[in-house]
Amino acid sequence: MSYLRNTWYVAAWAKELKKGVMLRRRLLDEFYVLFRDNDGQPRALVDRCPHRFAPLSMGKLIGEGAAIQCPYHGLRFDVEGRCIHNPHGKVPPARTPALTVVEKFSAIWIWMGEPTLADATLIPDFSFLSPDAHAVSCEMIIIESHFELESDNILDLSHIEYIHPLFSSEAVSAGEYECTTEGDTVWSKRHIPNDTLPTFLHEAFGLPRGAKADRWLNVRWNAPACMALWAGAVERGKPRENGNESVGAHLFTPETANTTHYFFAASFPRSLGTIAQELADTRSQSPSDPRACSLPKTSPSSKRRRRTCSAGNSGR
Ligand code: FES
Ligand SMILES: [Fe+2]
Repeated sequence: MSYLRNTWYVAAWAKELKKGVMLRRRLLDEFYVLFRDNDGQPRALVDRCPHRFAPLSMGKLIGEGAAIQCPYHGLRFDVEGRCIHNPHGKVPPARTPALTVVEKFSAIWIWMGEPTLADATLIPDFSFLSPDAHAVSCEMIIIESHFELESDNILDLSHIEYIHPLFSSEAVSAGEYECTTEGDTVWSKRHIPNDTLPTFLHEAFGLPRGAKADRWLNVRWNAPACMALWAGAVERGKPRENGNESVGAHLFTPETANTTHYFFAASFPRSLGTIAQELADTRSQSPSDPRACSLPKTSPSSKRRRRTCSAGNSGR
């Protein structure tokens, strides 16, 4: 299958990539090994030794991330993928491709296109996941569907009345919908006036007892499938600034043509105080089921295999 190449994909959450650990991950039908170098910077190599094609991720890190030693015959490769050591004699002019990776917004982003075009400023703004200002709860699962179906799912929230009754009411279908573009960004916005919220949601938004609400669900999309979802509510007729809003990230990276990494996250501003980290930790221990925002299990597009971010050194 052909994929969009000149774009940034999420390869992992930053917390998955612990120093001294190799993370094997299949992205766009190719296996990669991710690790941190001596300086703690993320690195990615094609996970295949150019000698007899052993997975480098089965070998070992040398010098705290300065190189990887192949498990088969012991060739060593530096962080750029160049062979730098041959225990059997002359160092061959062999290499395994290295990819550009950047740590930003609590994630490891990978560029799998033309290397000279890799510009980190093109990564969409997910500053609400920046760990210095936010306590972030993040998870990843594998979904057995094509990744574009997941963009459809998040962009088109007309399903929530039927799939997520906890978060919805009949007013959602009757709400006002608008789709706009700003350059390479797509906005999918839903405004639901005069709604009677389910009890759980009413309390979560801190609305006065018995009050009706004006709600909004705004999704921002950037290629290939990087979305932020703002969900808010305010007492009927009041300005939005008086209401409450939460924001989450929904980031999809193909594993294969038929399977997708679903990276999802929520954040809590550190300005809330120590409660912010407690909320993030609580959510990480018992994350809200992402199926709460996806199709039911019986759908062929929605089978899921949970893969937590705190996994060890094997992505698959
Ligand atoms: S396969 Fe890697 S050194 Fe032989
Ligand atoms: Fe959903």
